[in-house]
Amino acid sequence: MREDRISPTTKALLRVLRGETLAVPPVWLMRQAGRYLPEYRALRETVGGFLDLCLTPELAAEVTLQPVRRFALDAAILFSDILIVPYALGQPLEYRDGEGPVLEPVRSAADIAGLSDGDLRDRIAPVWRTVERVKGLLRADTALIGFAGAPWTVASYMVEGGSSRDFAVVKSWAFSDPRGFGALVDRLIDATIVYLDGQVRAGCEVLQLFDSWAGVLPEAAFRQWVIEPTRKIVSALRLVHQDVPIIGYPRGAGLMYPAYQAETGVSALSLDQTVPLDVARRKLQPASAIQGNLDPLFLVEGGEPMAAAARAILAALGSGPFVFNLGHGVMPSTPPDHVQALIELVHRGVAG
Ligand code: CP3
Repeated sequence: MREDRISPTTKALLRVLRGETLAVPPVWLMRQAGRYLPEYRALRETVGGFLDLCLTPELAAEVTLQPVRRFALDAAILFSDILIVPYALGQPLEYRDGEGPVLEPVRSAADIAGLSDGDLRDRIAPVWRTVERVKGLLRADTALIGFAGAPWTVASYMVEGGSSRDFAVVKSWAFSDPRGFGALVDRLIDATIVYLDGQVRAGCEVLQLFDSWAGVLPEAAFRQWVIEPTRKIVSALRLVHQDVPIIGYPRGAGLMYPAYQAETGVSALSLDQTVPLDVARRKLQPASAIQGNLDPLFLVEGGEPMAAAARAILAALGSGPFVFNLGHGVMPSTPPDHVQALIELVHRGVAG
């Protein structure tokens, strides 16, 4: 069904997230700014740390705009990181080259008590300033997406002290002492609401919640630590920003995607590349707009393998409300030409 009740001048991404089906779906890419772009690498060399980049509005705004200058993307995503919230809560954080983020772990009630909300707004403020800057510089047809990590994923970095293979420490805490771990998740729910509310006030028109490690939890824990905190964040934001669509990305959720979709209240579901297209079309798309889900390795590969995979996604999902995206973020080894080719292919639409 094609609907034209919303003015055709409304940005394509917003139309789809409100339930419209477009002949040419909007497209943007998770991690569309970053190391695969030579202009990002050049700018990155001029600043000390990655955190400085995220917290310097002029530079973060420039990096946000780099991909939309180069490619005909339908949206820009704020350049920042999901670990800004732990940083804003006062947890020592460092990004080490080749190693990723390193945090002083939070593993007890005393550690949680050591976090502070006192400076939260001041420490977050540079990110809000970035949004304001970008907003003034974006083309009128390009939407601006804000984001945060969802509490489970952010907590996993806070508790493990960085990236993890097996999530042993955070799971052990969540499983053995749900009240104690829940206190950390509650702090994250509150801080994330403040952070995202400010992003909308500064000019973001869409929000995405990244729950990159949702897929490592068994059912009951998934409900408790993925669905429930997400539901609380979505309902708090809806009270003040009824019209701002919220995209949920519970990566790896598998058979839990339908429960997440039904129970969190998100406006749209971002699917990772393991979700079968037929399931996405028949079981998920009737309930909300769908975003996804090209394997980022196809974008590294390019050529006919990428084109065939992208066409299969368009054929399966293009006849309902759909946003073309990857199943996970752009890899640093991606040739920018492949991004250009992918966007051209998507813009030729389902028939192309
Ligand atoms: O999508 C975008 O273009 C916006 C920018 C963005 C970044 N991180 C920039 C970044 C977004 C949306 C994120 C989200 C993020 N950050 C997630 C969720 C999405 C996902 O990929 O699963 C996670 C888990 C993080 C945490 C994080 N930040 C890690 C594990 C790392 C190190 C590994 C890596 O990819 O480098 C980062 C650093 C980071 N965040 C970089 C960028 C561009 C690389 C920093 C550099 O320039 O060296």
